[in-house]
Amino acid sequence: MRIICGKDYSDVSNQTAQFLAAQVRLKPDCVLGLATGGSPVGTYAKLVELYRQGTLDFSKARTVNLDEYVGLAPDHPQSYAYYMRTHLFDHVNLAPGSTFLPDGLARDGEAECARYDALLQSLGGTDMQLLGLGNNGHIGFNEPGDAFCLPTHRVALTESTVSANARFFASREEVPRWAYTMGIGGILSARKIVMVVTGAAKAQAVRDVFFGPVTPKVPGSVLQLHKDVILIADREALSLIPDSVVVDLSALLPFANH
Ligand code: F6R
Repeated sequence: MRIICGKDYSDVSNQTAQFLAAQVRLKPDCVLGLATGGSPVGTYAKLVELYRQGTLDFSKARTVNLDEYVGLAPDHPQSYAYYMRTHLFDHVNLAPGSTFLPDGLARDGEAECARYDALLQSLGGTDMQLLGLGNNGHIGFNEPGDAFCLPTHRVALTESTVSANARFFASREEVPRWAYTMGIGGILSARKIVMVVTGAAKAQAVRDVFFGPVTPKVPGSVLQLHKDVILIADREALSLIPDSVVVDLSALLPFANH
C-alpha cells in the first residue's frame, strides 16, 4: 500500500485523476471501476479537463460503477447513473454502451446482482478501481457486518450511511434505505485500487482501514490483502496515521498538475 498526501481537496483530486488518466493512456481499452459521492467529484472534473485539453481519450475505455440505490431510475437526480452522466459521462468521449451501473429499478434483485457479477467477469474485471471511503469504513456499499460479502448484493444501508448521504437529498426521509453494491470479491479483483479520501471526519476510518485488524466490522480493512492499493488523501484525513508512511508529493506538483 502507498499513501500519498495531497495539500487540499483540489490537489488530492488532481493527483487521483492523474492515476486514472495514466491507466487510460497505458491501456486505452481498460476497464475503470468508478465510485460516486462527494470525494471523486473533483477527480472527475480534472479528468474532463484533461479530455478537453486533448490529452486523454476515453473512446476505447469501459467503466463499471460500484453501486446504485435500489428504487431510483437512471434519470433520478440522486441516482448514481445521473451523477455519473453529470460529472463524467456526458463530458468525455466514452462510447455509447461502454458504461455500466447496477439497475436500480431491476424487478428481480437477485438476478440483477448475478447479472452484474457476470458482466464484471465478462469484462475481465477492472484494471483500476477508484474508491471513496465511508465514515464507517465501508467501500462501495459494503457495510460493516459479521462477514465479508464477496458477490454483488442488495444491502440495507446503515443509519450512519443514510445520515452521511442525506446531504445530497432534500430530506433524510428521501434517502433510499437499500442499494446494490459490488461485493468485496469484485473490488479485490481489481488489478489496481486508488482510494480518494479527504477531511478530518474520515481520519478514524482511514486509520482503522489501513492500520487496524482486517475485519468485516471495518469492510475497507480488507484492502490490506490487496497488493496494489494507493491511498490519496489530505493531511486532515491522514492525521491519525504515522507520518513515516506518508509520501508528500507537493514537491512534484508541476508534474501532478499537468
Ligand atoms: C459511492 C461509494 C461509497 C462512497 C463513500 C464515501 O459509490 O461507493 O463507498 O465512496 O460513501 O462517500 P463520500 O465521498 O460522499 O464521503
